[in-house]
Amino acid sequence: MNVRDFLIHKVQHAMQAAGIPAEYGPHLAPSRKAGFGDYQANGAMAAAKAMRTNPRELAQAIVAQLQLDGVADKIEIAGPGFINIHLANNWLSEMTSQLLADPNLGQEKAAQPQTVVVDYSSPNLAKEMHVGHLRSTIIGDALVRALEYQGHNVIRQNHVGDWGTQFGMLIAELEEEIDDGEVAEFALKDLEAFYQQSKQHFDEDEEFARRARDYVVKLQSGDERILYLWEQFKKVSLKHSTEIYQQLNVTLSDEDVRGESYYNEDLPRVVADLQKLGLAQEDQGAQVVFLEELADKEGKPSPVIIQKQGGGYLYATSDLAALRYRANILKADRIMYFIDARQSLHMNQVFTLARKAKFVPESISLEHHAFGTMMGSDGKPFKTRSGGTVKLADLLNEAVERAAALIALKDPDLSEEEKVEVAEKVGIGAVKYADLSKTRTNDYIFNWDSMLSFEGNTAPYLQYAYTRIQSIFRKAGEQGVETAVQIETDEEKALALKLLQFTEVVEQVTREAYPHVLCTYLYEVASLFMRFYEACPILKSDIDPATRGSRLAIARVTARTLHKGLDLLGIDTMEKM
Ligand code: ARG
Repeated sequence: MNVRDFLIHKVQHAMQAAGIPAEYGPHLAPSRKAGFGDYQANGAMAAAKAMRTNPRELAQAIVAQLQLDGVADKIEIAGPGFINIHLANNWLSEMTSQLLADPNLGQEKAAQPQTVVVDYSSPNLAKEMHVGHLRSTIIGDALVRALEYQGHNVIRQNHVGDWGTQFGMLIAELEEEIDDGEVAEFALKDLEAFYQQSKQHFDEDEEFARRARDYVVKLQSGDERILYLWEQFKKVSLKHSTEIYQQLNVTLSDEDVRGESYYNEDLPRVVADLQKLGLAQEDQGAQVVFLEELADKEGKPSPVIIQKQGGGYLYATSDLAALRYRANILKADRIMYFIDARQSLHMNQVFTLARKAKFVPESISLEHHAFGTMMGSDGKPFKTRSGGTVKLADLLNEAVERAAALIALKDPDLSEEEKVEVAEKVGIGAVKYADLSKTRTNDYIFNWDSMLSFEGNTAPYLQYAYTRIQSIFRKAGEQGVETAVQIETDEEKALALKLLQFTEVVEQVTREAYPHVLCTYLYEVASLFMRFYEACPILKSDIDPATRGSRLAIARVTARTLHKGLDLLGIDTMEKM
């Protein structure tokens, strides 16, 4: 149990003993200001209000029942009834020593592990992954890592766009190239160019366009040769994505791909079911559901087209089918989507409709975790100089090149091999961290200089802090034995308390799907470590062995926390830089 949960339990108990009804909680939080203890329980005020008693007196009654012998060395009541808890150094020492012995850093396996389906990355396979896919891919991956760390059963779903009319055009183009003796892999080496080329072909050559349209129909009716070409296209396109995932250190694999096409067979059933329920109706030849729940200001219901005139299905239709699959087959308890905020209306329609049709029971949590846009320095969505979309592969390569140039200047003593490793980890880490550390829902401005800075809340700063601690261990060498933690100074206490909050922070991250909370935390850990290391020397010769052992232990827990925390963000550390 982490410190917070432990204290909540204790305060809850005291509140009950003081005669407060169970529905009034302790409202426990880390204290924000120095001098107000380490944790604050603020529940007395709300309880007193409801019970029509004096909040300060009620707080006193709680404190009288609060059993924190050996845990806190001071409990005070402040203001109208805040209960400030000052934790005892001895207790914190013992708790930190336990962290040292625990490979999971205090994380216990979830008491009720959930099956969590996470829909993320999900690029359109017709084109190459571009910067627009970065956020979903890395935010989603941070979440699956954190959920797994907590012991949940996570099912990744890469809902790739592998269906739709543009595939007719791409298949027709691929067929020509293959007939000319090219291998699919080679023809599709540059997907972006291939797409442009087939589009041009489509726009300028009527015969080609006719064939492309014909292939859409053939694809839908399961024509073998057309299906084969489509499979080829998908295979090569997915390989491009997989390469990006590997470079980005993202945990998605081919097994996680469950593209739109996977739901094809279920789409007629989705439409039929919605008709049977009286939800779908014909409107100008199309099948449409009108949702009053999402009516606009004038009271006009929100239309969701589920089948076009002519029979084609839509994005919403396959999302509804995917939801049923996730609820009924995958048996999800919680379904999380990481998709751009610009698709908020779409997701809202899909969720509302799925609930209304009872495709998904209320017990399953449906969550769209939207995010803002990555902007260029001009404050407009990030583009190449000529205004085109930036390929993710190009962006990542540039990140590594820029990091390599910095490392060459900063760390001339590293071996060539080490330089390559460090540049890769720093470059990729910088791009990911710059994104993950921003509040997800906001837009942010992409800036090479700030993300690659070795100062401030950046990946290089944290990676550097980690290597710095590793070098302490190397220097400590033989005398580097970690012993029980004995907290003596304020700097030691502040750092230890922070380290003990790791699992609290991870809990907040998985509850709210906000990885920036973890970034802020890690930055605080690194900063508190720097303060600690300045105030509490470890390697100086006049340090007695017990103190050195304790401080090395604190350093060890710090290093492991930084390592694990960065790992949950999908960012690698190294031993030297
Ligand atoms: N392929 C879509 C796009 O590129 C994103 C899919 C998101 N997931 C979903 N279930 N709709 O915009």
